[in-house]
Amino acid sequence: MRTLRALVAAALLCLVPVLPAHADDGSGGSTGGSTTGFTYDFEDGTTQGWGPRGDGVSVTVTADAAHGGTSGLLTTGRTATWHGASIAAPFVRGTGYTVTAYARLVTGQPAGTLALTVQRTPAGGETTYERVAAATVTDGAWVRLSGSYQFTAESTDVLLYAESSDATTEFSLDDIVITPLGDPTREPVTSDFEDGTAQGWAPRAAAVLESSADAAHAGGRALAVSGRSASWDGPALNVLGRMAKGDKYALSVWVRLGPDTPSGRLGLSVERRSGDTPSYERIASPKDVPAGEWVQLSGTYTLAYDVDFLSLYVESDSGTFPFYLDDFSMTYVQPKPIQTDIPALKDEVPFVMGSAISRPDTLGVHGELLARHFNGVTPGNALKWDATEPSEGEFDFTDGDYLVDFATRHGMTIRGHTLAWHSQTPDWVFAGADKETLLKRLETHVRTLVSRYKGKIAVWDVVNEVVDENQPDGLRRSPWYEIAGLDFIRTAFRVAHEADPDAKLFINDYNTEFPRKREALYALVKRLKGEGVPIDGVGHQLHLNIEQPPASAVEATIERFASLGVEQQVTELDVSIYTDFVSSYDAIPPELLVEQGHRYKELFDVFRRQAAELSSVTVWGESDDVSWLQSWPITRLNAPLLFDDELQAKPAYWGVVDPSRLAPPVRRLEAPAGTPRVDGGRDLQWDLLPDAPIARVGDVSAGFQARSSAKGLYLLAEVTDPTAGREDRVTFTVDGTRHVVTRHGGHKAAARRTRTGYRVEALVPAGKDVTVTVHDTTGEATWTGEITPVAAVKLTSAARRAPVLDGVVDRAWSAAPEIRTATWLQGTSGATAKVRSLWSGSTLYVLAQVADPVLSEESPNAWEQDSVEIFVDPDNGKTKGYGDDDGQYRVGFTGRITVGGTFDAAGVKDNVRAVAKQVPGGYVVEAAIDLPTVTLRPGTLLGFDVQVNDATGAARTSAVTWNDVTDRAYLDTSHWGVLRLAR
Ligand code: XIL
Repeated sequence: MRTLRALVAAALLCLVPVLPAHADDGSGGSTGGSTTGFTYDFEDGTTQGWGPRGDGVSVTVTADAAHGGTSGLLTTGRTATWHGASIAAPFVRGTGYTVTAYARLVTGQPAGTLALTVQRTPAGGETTYERVAAATVTDGAWVRLSGSYQFTAESTDVLLYAESSDATTEFSLDDIVITPLGDPTREPVTSDFEDGTAQGWAPRAAAVLESSADAAHAGGRALAVSGRSASWDGPALNVLGRMAKGDKYALSVWVRLGPDTPSGRLGLSVERRSGDTPSYERIASPKDVPAGEWVQLSGTYTLAYDVDFLSLYVESDSGTFPFYLDDFSMTYVQPKPIQTDIPALKDEVPFVMGSAISRPDTLGVHGELLARHFNGVTPGNALKWDATEPSEGEFDFTDGDYLVDFATRHGMTIRGHTLAWHSQTPDWVFAGADKETLLKRLETHVRTLVSRYKGKIAVWDVVNEVVDENQPDGLRRSPWYEIAGLDFIRTAFRVAHEADPDAKLFINDYNTEFPRKREALYALVKRLKGEGVPIDGVGHQLHLNIEQPPASAVEATIERFASLGVEQQVTELDVSIYTDFVSSYDAIPPELLVEQGHRYKELFDVFRRQAAELSSVTVWGESDDVSWLQSWPITRLNAPLLFDDELQAKPAYWGVVDPSRLAPPVRRLEAPAGTPRVDGGRDLQWDLLPDAPIARVGDVSAGFQARSSAKGLYLLAEVTDPTAGREDRVTFTVDGTRHVVTRHGGHKAAARRTRTGYRVEALVPAGKDVTVTVHDTTGEATWTGEITPVAAVKLTSAARRAPVLDGVVDRAWSAAPEIRTATWLQGTSGATAKVRSLWSGSTLYVLAQVADPVLSEESPNAWEQDSVEIFVDPDNGKTKGYGDDDGQYRVGFTGRITVGGTFDAAGVKDNVRAVAKQVPGGYVVEAAIDLPTVTLRPGTLLGFDVQVNDATGAARTSAVTWNDVTDRAYLDTSHWGVLRLAR
């Protein structure tokens, strides 16, 4: 979570009213699902640890009877009164608990007494049975059982079980909640405002709060909030004393916009103070609250500081509109113990195994997990400029010192991150600065930090993210660069070296595995080293995703920099489960986590092979619950790391430690229709798509593809295998039948030598389940998955001419073939376009003649206006998400241009010029798209598609493309067609 510095100044100006020491009226039942406290609700479809007690008894989760939600626990097969359902009880000696549960008999069963009982064996004594709660239960309604329990003697085999006075009664249980007593930090805090009071909520400044019957999320009342004086003014609840340091709490509150408020964004935050210094953290980032709807704000919070003020509050991201708040709850999250029967990561890898950390990560089970698995750390935020020098000359090392001390005590090496960066740097640093002033500020900052941790911090990321491969000189246009040019890098390294000559000084960046960025960084490091700038190493952040880029690209980068003689480290590894910047899952498909496990395996295969070049590999967070990708680039469920939200080892962990424990991956590949010649040559149609990577094992790796036809399945493998040997072969197994192709070819197959190995092609009977195995004496690289036949990838061409860009169809266009949009995504008729393309120099020209008699740009959304979208992928990478160079260029019928790309389209947004002209029956678009990242030549293949949006009034009524059938062209480049540049 991120400190909201921007709010500090604002909030300091206001006087926060002093709240009562404890939130009153706060207690009530635990509200959460199975992860909050000890709640067993069976909603996840499992018995959540409950099992049968007695021979022949069966305990299952069923949807036939549920108290809350849709599932309950059914017990059948009983033949004795003590038979029933039981669980290893979570009771801790010396702590008191309340236990509540709901029970009901299966229809037709006679009423009887149902009891919850504890069985335990005190040390050296007899097993005892203690009644916790009992009630008469019928088949007519759910009955609440409730009681309390505590034991004091050291005991083993502590079980909680449900039994019945009738030996054979079949019964259901649900919503069993066990709450520790007496410790206010363990008890839930809830507010429902049903008693007509504000239940301890108080305004932060001038806001007026009252329990109101005008709206309610549940029950009849909510808290009405009005008269707010600022976005941060609103209802706050004092929770000092209700959270314990190092513990995690789940928070949830419902909000709704007040009267006459059409729109607004609300979020849940926490204010904490130690002494006079307030800090603000977000629990749930502000999100849209549509008028008239209740929206839940939820998140977890771990208190990581000693505090003398602690308050939760709801705020807007702007505006002072009124709102309602209801059904607040805060519950302690009982941590799962960390696994102690699995190998420590740091013992399994031949380099330092690091993790990014923040203060909460060092406490409780998080601290235990860190200490067990990692021998390196990087403070994720604590050493950045905004944290260490928020205003000029006023340094704050509270968190930095704490984390450095923690790491030192645990014998972990520390990466200092980061001295000069364009992000998380306070405005004052650049304000009014000429070059001299800026470099002076930099010098003071670098000297102060590096000197303070001299001898303690082994490695510094001296500069971070200074490369921009889309600039002609490869350098990011940050304020640093704009004001001081390359001298800011030179100064930062010089001063860092003076302050601690033994520290290793790194230049750190992301996307270094992509060839263009790799080369831009390479050139910069080479140049600076040549000048004598003391650069010791290059840090590869490696923020990757589940698809991209292949492990082979990472390996190529490490090999490239090895030739420069620099040390290398992987500094911020994570593997997002998303390939784009907008999708989000409600629940993560388990097979995706298995796939991620294989992805981690392939990456760590690379790291182990390259261990001589890599001194450490750092993951950007110890467990999924603390990953920055939960809130970047948008708030969504993500799981990019090795341990899950509950700190348990994921398939990703096993991918690193013992891949034999991974389930086989479920890979998928499309086989477009096609009939390439089986002669060992690479026909143009193979080039329409990239080869699916088969990651290296030993010395062999490969790429492969498939085409479907009535004759069967065509398969291609491009094998990288530097030494020819007798064992060399590719085996294609299709629906169980093996087809072997050696370097000499085979039945209905051909092979040919290539620069890096050999190529095989084969025609085999059609099938779905395919395994490709590439074999030599050093190893066996394989791909296993399912092949689906799809329509052929469309191919067109661009003639080499430049048109005049004026909306008039001049003669030059007639040199190019015409294609038509006829793949309907929405509707089956409507506006369509005839499209032609030309190219010249580094520019692609596209003409779209649109038939669309009725034109509208009424919708506020550009894609719902009459418009043409041109999709261009300069390297025809066919990646699932957009790369920096991929663009969606939209031109409306009035000539309005909008551009889509990676989340801010930074790399492409200035690439397009266009003219639109209305003509009888429609409009004409002429667009010129510059492609500065590639060298265009005859034969170049571009990923290419065209979409026409047809609007009627403010709505889009049809959409049609040339090739892409998925309606995801704006997110995913993999189904675009191909444009070939002609001579
Ligand atoms: C991230 C932190 O993890 C977040 O907590 C913070 O809000 C933003 O920065 N590249 C870097 C890291 O070099 O410093 C960034 O860390 C992630 C991207």
